[in-house]
Amino acid sequence: MDRRRFLAAGIELGSGLVAGTLIAAMPALAQTPPNARKEVSMSHAQRGAGRKARVFITGSADGLGHAAAKALLAQGHDVVVHVRSQARLPAVKELVDQGATATIGDLSDLAQIRDLARQVNAIGTMDAVIHNAGVYSGSSVLVVNVVAPYLLTALVQRPKRLIYLSSSMHRGGRASLAGMDWSGRTATGSYSDSKLFVTTLAMAVARRWPNVFSNAVDPGWVPTRMGGPNAPDDLRLGHLTQEWLATSNDPEALTSGGYWYHQQRQKPHPAAADTRFQDQLLAELARATGTTLA
Ligand SMILES: NC(=O)c1ccc[n+]([C@@H]2O[C@H](COP(=O)([O-])OP(=O)(O)OC[C@H]3O[C@@H](n4cnc5c(N)ncnc54)[C@H](OP(=O)(O)O)[C@@H]3O)[C@@H](O)[C@H]2O)c1
Repeated sequence: MDRRRFLAAGIELGSGLVAGTLIAAMPALAQTPPNARKEVSMSHAQRGAGRKARVFITGSADGLGHAAAKALLAQGHDVVVHVRSQARLPAVKELVDQGATATIGDLSDLAQIRDLARQVNAIGTMDAVIHNAGVYSGSSVLVVNVVAPYLLTALVQRPKRLIYLSSSMHRGGRASLAGMDWSGRTATGSYSDSKLFVTTLAMAVARRWPNVFSNAVDPGWVPTRMGGPNAPDDLRLGHLTQEWLATSNDPEALTSGGYWYHQQRQKPHPAAADTRFQDQLLAELARATGTTLA
């Protein structure tokens, strides 16, 4: 299915929800094996988008992650959602009621990130992971926006497709790792720095793992809690590219090392494609976490 048809199908499907198996939101994690869920009927257009996929989306309690989870469920995919704590489970109740499986972990805490990887691996191998969760400010910017995607990439059984949420603001990031506090104890890196680093991570993974499609996405400035109510870009287009990269068999979606905006490749900050900077970043994240990317 080409990009225009995927967009049309996505907009159409995003409005109509499908019935899933009712799963009570319980403290127990990874509550329902995906194959125990009710199959949903798929329209011809949905089938054209590719076979049913299992997609893990971080930060699905709100914003783009929640919207992507809802749209993918509506298209008949298996979705593994994620919230920061048990107290946030109600935010995904509607998704769980439609068949999603919930996982829990605060991405500003290394031990919880590792535990989240264990929960995901207990569910099974994902077809795609969307590293969506992000924060705009505060001391946890580097941990949530960079360290968590790195550790989850290293620890979650390798999927076929990886999608990392970037931002046009990555262009204002500094291509320097000096003085960065990856622990989250002190605020060092800016949001722009973090998005340059995670874009670099996406490119590094694309180079290191040639059998995996690894891409970064700028969703545009869209009206979520982070984007604010007056954000000018289209909310649906803000999550469509991630869904497309995660599930479509469009030849352009089956490519790696891209920086995408609304299903179009763009040129990222040159540092993201700099293999020396990529290797420095991977080495620094391995040092900070004690976990090396295989
Ligand atoms: N919106 C935009 O205009 C825009 C533009 C460029 C890039 N982006 C990127 O797109 C992604 C999604 O942004 P958004 O606009 O959807 O933001 P959002 O509405 O603020 O949602 C962020 C999501 O991440 C979760 N999250 C944040 N910190 C977490 C933590 N420590 N542990 C677990 N989950 C955590 C949030 O959970 P809680 O709800 O529990 O806090 C929420 O589900 C981010 O990576 C962002 O940088 C957004």
